[in-house]
Amino acid sequence: MATDPRERDPATGGSGSVDEAHAAHLERSRTVWNRWSDWYEMSERDFEPMREAAIDRLDLRPGDRVLEIGCGPGVNFERLRDDIGESGELVAVDYSPVMIEKARARIDAHGWENVDVRRADATTAEFEEPFDAALATLSLAVMPDIPRTVETVYRSLIPDATFVVFDIRPIPDGPARVLNPVLRRFLRWYANWNPDGDVAASLEAVFERSEIVDTYMHGTTYTVVCEKRDAD
Ligand SMILES: C[S@@+](CC[C@H](N)C(=O)[O-])C[C@H]1O[C@@H](n2cnc3c(N)ncnc32)[C@H](O)[C@@H]1O
Repeated sequence: MATDPRERDPATGGSGSVDEAHAAHLERSRTVWNRWSDWYEMSERDFEPMREAAIDRLDLRPGDRVLEIGCGPGVNFERLRDDIGESGELVAVDYSPVMIEKARARIDAHGWENVDVRRADATTAEFEEPFDAALATLSLAVMPDIPRTVETVYRSLIPDATFVVFDIRPIPDGPARVLNPVLRRFLRWYANWNPDGDVAASLEAVFERSEIVDTYMHGTTYTVVCEKRDAD
């Protein structure tokens, strides 16, 4: 008799079931990102201008309710909190318990009362209320199921909301593409990067509008602005 390959994941609060490949990817993410959480200063510093430019694209207002996917140690919190002010709300999710600890330490150090970090698999996370905007920096491409994560974000937004994604991909064109097999292997080892995923295509498939607005480092890092137009 065939066995059911699906199982409950406690991190989803029992709300989602995941198959074995998904569970294996999540477990590897937990290990990889727990480990890198102690070495995050370089990433925080080097990508800061690109993250800032991505957040500019959200055009946030005081009072906005914002979702952040794969927040890591909270590198975007200060800027997001500045934009939404005391009357806004930031809900951030991450799967790594150590990243969550570091994100919470940052919140405590600043005394932010309207920034909430939750441990969840962003693929299947559920939220009580919809958001005005969402952000994912360097996180969508490491999700175990990118299309499903994009659908989750879409469902969690109000109509006319913006989702901004800053991410990494292989070299998109030109002769340097010969380096892509090595780059893919590196990203898979370093970040548990999802080799089956195409972030830009997944965003385009779900959002009514989706456009790559900025590219950096020979196109290997890029920002996409997506808009949800219809009521869900
Ligand atoms: C490269 S870090 C990005 C952190 C931060 N957003 C930044 O810009 O530096 C990727 C983050 O995604 C988180 N992550 C990986 N898989 C996840 C999942 N399924 N659900 C939520 N977070 C996840 C990791 O724990 C890690 O903190």
